[in-house]
Amino acid sequence: MAFLFPIDAVCSFSKVLGEKVMQSKRRRVLTGIQPTGELHVGNYFGALKPIIEFSHDPQNEVFFLCVDWHGLTNRSKILESGANSLGILAAALALGYNAKDNFILLQSDFPQIQENAWYLACASSSGLLERSHAYKDAIANGKEATGGLLFYPALMAADIMSFDADVVPVGKDQAQHLECASDMGKLFNNAVGKSVYKEPKCLIHADVPLVPGTDGRKMSKSYNNHIPLFAPKKEIEKRIKEIKTDSAGLNDPKDPEACYIWQILRSFGSPEAISYMHDKLAAGTGYGYGHAKMDLIAEHERVFGAKRELYDHYLKTPADVWKIMAPKYEEAEQIANAVRTRVRSALGLVKLC
Ligand code: ADP
Ligand code: TRP
Repeated sequence: MAFLFPIDAVCSFSKVLGEKVMQSKRRRVLTGIQPTGELHVGNYFGALKPIIEFSHDPQNEVFFLCVDWHGLTNRSKILESGANSLGILAAALALGYNAKDNFILLQSDFPQIQENAWYLACASSSGLLERSHAYKDAIANGKEATGGLLFYPALMAADIMSFDADVVPVGKDQAQHLECASDMGKLFNNAVGKSVYKEPKCLIHADVPLVPGTDGRKMSKSYNNHIPLFAPKKEIEKRIKEIKTDSAGLNDPKDPEACYIWQILRSFGSPEAISYMHDKLAAGTGYGYGHAKMDLIAEHERVFGAKRELYDHYLKTPADVWKIMAPKYEEAEQIANAVRTRVRSALGLVKLC
C-alpha cells in the first residue's frame, strides 16, 4: 500500500499570532471513521489498516477519531452511530492500533470541534457546503439531505483543524471533502487576516484499489456484499462461499487479478498467503475456486478470528477500552483548547467572566 507524502510536512515551529509555538516534531496524522455499521474487510483495507500502520511509525503522532457526530447525518439511522462507536474503537484496539504513543478519540468528547465547525462555516459560502459530494449525492439520489449532511464538510474540516493536523490519509472518495476543508481553513484565515487555523495542505490520497464484495461490486454494507471482520466463524464461511467466480475448472489456469477471492485476500492476507494463492490459481493444476475459498477462510480466521475474543472482550468491557484511551485525553484536550483560544482571540470574541 502506498501512501505518499513529503517528509518535510513535519513542522518544528509555526508562527501563530506572532508567537513562536513549539510543535511536536512528529508528523501529526489525523483521520476519522464513521461508526455507521458492521466493519468489513473493505473498511479494514481502506481505513483501519493504514491508520494502524501509521500508529506504529514513530515519526507519526496519529489522531484517530471515531466520528460519531458525522454518523448522525442520516436521520433514519440517527440511533446507529452511538450504538456502533464502541465497535470501531474495539476493532482498532484489537487489531493492534498503538494507543500508547498515539491518540484514539471519540469525536463527541470534544465540543471544541463543534465550535470550530461553526467558525469555519461562518467564514465559508453556503455554496461551498452545497458542493460537497455527500450532500450532492443524497440530492441526486432523491434521498433526504439533512441540515447535518450539509454541514458535514465543516465538521470534518473542524476535526482536522481542531488538532493542528499535518496530514490526513483517506480514500479517494474523501478527496473532495478534504479540498473543501482546506478551502475553509484558507477562507477563515483570509477573513481574519491571520494564519490562525493550520490549513491541512499535505492532503494524502491513498492510491489503493477498492476491495470487491462477494458479487464483485465495491464491498459495501449498503450492497450487503460484505465480509465482516468479527462475525461468528460460520457467518464468515457462508459469506466467503458466496463469492462469485467464473466457470473455470479445477485444472484450468485462472487469472488471479480477475478473481474476486484473490482480490479480497490481497487486501488483508500475509504476503506468503497472497503469493501462494496467486501462483496456485495461475497454474490451475488441481487448485479450483473451492480451494481458494477455503484458503481465504483460513487466512481470515488467522488475521481476524484470532482477535475476535479480544474484540468481544472490549465490547463487553467498555471500561477496559476507556483505560487504554484515557491517558492521552488530557493532552488532546490541551491541544484543542489551545486552538480554540487562538481562534477566539483572532475573532476578538469578548470574554467578560
Ligand atoms: P460502506 O460503503 O460499507 O458504507 P463506508 O462508506 O462507511 O463503507 O466507508 C468507511 C471507510 O472505509 C472509508 O474510509 C472508505 O474509504 C473505506 N472503504 C469502504 N469500502 C471500501 C472498499 N470496498 N474498499 C476500500 N475501502 C473501503
Ligand atoms: N468523512 C470521512 C468518511 O466518511 C470521515 C471523517 C470525518 C474524516 N472527519 C474526518 C476523515 C477527518 C478524515 C479526517 O470516511
